[in-house]
Amino acid sequence: MPDATLGTDSLNALDGGRAESAVLPIEGRGLSVARSGRVLLDGVDIRIEGAGLTVILGPNGAGKTLLLRVLANLFRPDSGTVRWAHAAPDRSRAPRIGFVFQKPVMLRRSVLANVSYALSAVGVPRRECAPRSHAMLAMASLDHLAGAPARLLSGGEQQRLALARALATEPEVLFLDEPGSSLDPAATLAIERLIETVRARGTHLVLVTHDIGQARRLADTVLFMHRGRIVEHAPSADFFDHPAERPSRDFIEGRIVL
Ligand SMILES: Nc1ncnc2c1ncn2[C@@H]1O[C@H](COP(=O)(O)OP(=O)(O)OP(=O)(O)O)[C@@H](O)[C@H]1O
Ligand SMILES: [Mg+2]
Repeated sequence: MPDATLGTDSLNALDGGRAESAVLPIEGRGLSVARSGRVLLDGVDIRIEGAGLTVILGPNGAGKTLLLRVLANLFRPDSGTVRWAHAAPDRSRAPRIGFVFQKPVMLRRSVLANVSYALSAVGVPRRECAPRSHAMLAMASLDHLAGAPARLLSGGEQQRLALARALATEPEVLFLDEPGSSLDPAATLAIERLIETVRARGTHLVLVTHDIGQARRLADTVLFMHRGRIVEHAPSADFFDHPAERPSRDFIEGRIVL
């Protein structure tokens, strides 16, 4: 299984010092999206800033993935604005936001090449790409698969590779869309330790999960989404001890959210 201690060392070895914030705070104002007469995002206001870990909870179809895509400037809302560090998003700063998608997209290349391609795409000199890629793979306990075709990895291995690839470029903010959905318990624990390490380095993480135990373990702040709206936004302890809204209570207590 992945070794979290190794992960910490590998990350520290890569830590070349952090530039001033290029994308934080990430702010969305009045974000709305509708398709075929359905409202998918309904006037969402959100602000992500500082270090820490924000968990987004909510039932299937609530709009969680869509909101992350809008904030990462991968999807244009029908109305509303997104700002990165008080300015309109632009391509040059996009690499400062890492994204691990719900369904990881693997390049038709080796495991190693999936990471080194991400590094070269952000201008890391070619001679540094291979050693840095190996360090990231070691962190995710995937170094033994470095030469394998990435698309042949298991679902959980692909999720770990997607996380290693996203971390390789040392993003300021990391969006994780259900990164644990294919992981066994040991790999889940190792990924959570890695998430803690990344958080301790000052990266802001935004994690979408359906795993309430994981949300309790990791979250500083919880956002609860329902039908395209953020219905609750609270510090983690408050949210879990005193959920204020009925959909959040139903979700925490395992009832179907209507
Ligand atoms: N580009 C699109 N065109 C049309 N409908 C879309 C588009 N993107 C998302 N949707 C719809 O918007 C709703 C919210 O989708 P989203 O993927 O954000 O849900 P989610 O909260 O991430 O759910 P899950 O927990 O199942 O991942 C869904 O009903 C989805 O079908
Ligand atoms: Mg989703």
